[in-house]
Amino acid sequence: MQVVILNDSDAVAEYGAQLFIKQLSKKPKAVLGLATGSTPIALYQKLIEANKSGDVSFKECSSFNLDEYLGLSGDHPQSYRYFMQQQLFNHIDINPLQTFVPAGDTDNPIDACHHYEDMIREKGGIDLQLLGIGSNGHIGFNEPSSGLMSRTRIKTLAPATIRDNARFFSSDEEQPHLSITMGIGTILDSHQSILLATGAAKAGAIAATVEGPLTAACPASALQMHPNAVVVIDEDAASQLQNTEFYKHVERENLRLKARLGL
Ligand code: F6R
Repeated sequence: MQVVILNDSDAVAEYGAQLFIKQLSKKPKAVLGLATGSTPIALYQKLIEANKSGDVSFKECSSFNLDEYLGLSGDHPQSYRYFMQQQLFNHIDINPLQTFVPAGDTDNPIDACHHYEDMIREKGGIDLQLLGIGSNGHIGFNEPSSGLMSRTRIKTLAPATIRDNARFFSSDEEQPHLSITMGIGTILDSHQSILLATGAAKAGAIAATVEGPLTAACPASALQMHPNAVVVIDEDAASQLQNTEFYKHVERENLRLKARLGL
């Protein structure tokens, strides 16, 4: 697991955006794994700017989102489909028919989960998966105790997640307690994954992810088994790590090596 500690949230977003831009220039037909929440918004802003200035094109790629609230249709303002349209898809040249978000309003959510996995497989798997992290260590809606090899399925949201996300719902809106989420096994199958976290509220979850034991109690710790995972965090999110100086040293060495190899 590569751990990149940067000065602030803007640098975190820039690092993530550059990874997506590189991925798309290497493979225009890339399959992108996308996330919602507050954390990726700044990264999406940077991708929109890069697309407008012609530095990146999404025309040939496809995307799969991590999760969706069960019971919300895509035109519901709190649905993750709606979020993606507002925060990214409506502003870039991606083919709308190639953007996939789990169907929150399906009559048959169990079949929809299997179908989602089939579609990802048919596309050849996810090239680059973007992740945020919950304060309880969840990735997607894989809450603590999620199976570390789980696939896309229905999950009940943890009380901590319901509390964290209550800020997006008005008092008269019913907040869903169920979701469809890619599984941890689905995420681990991605060719590369990038987890972003900023702010002190994520520091405990990041310490457990990077330096804690591999455990379903912190679902993001499963990334320790990912063959190509990078955790990109600001100083606040890094504040409970024990080995900060070592990660910074490794990153300096990585940059030197890349320069030497012309990468
Ligand atoms: C949403 C998702 C979640 C969020 C996590 C952090 O698609 O995958 O795991 O990434 O809840 O959310 P924020 O960024 O709002 O703190």
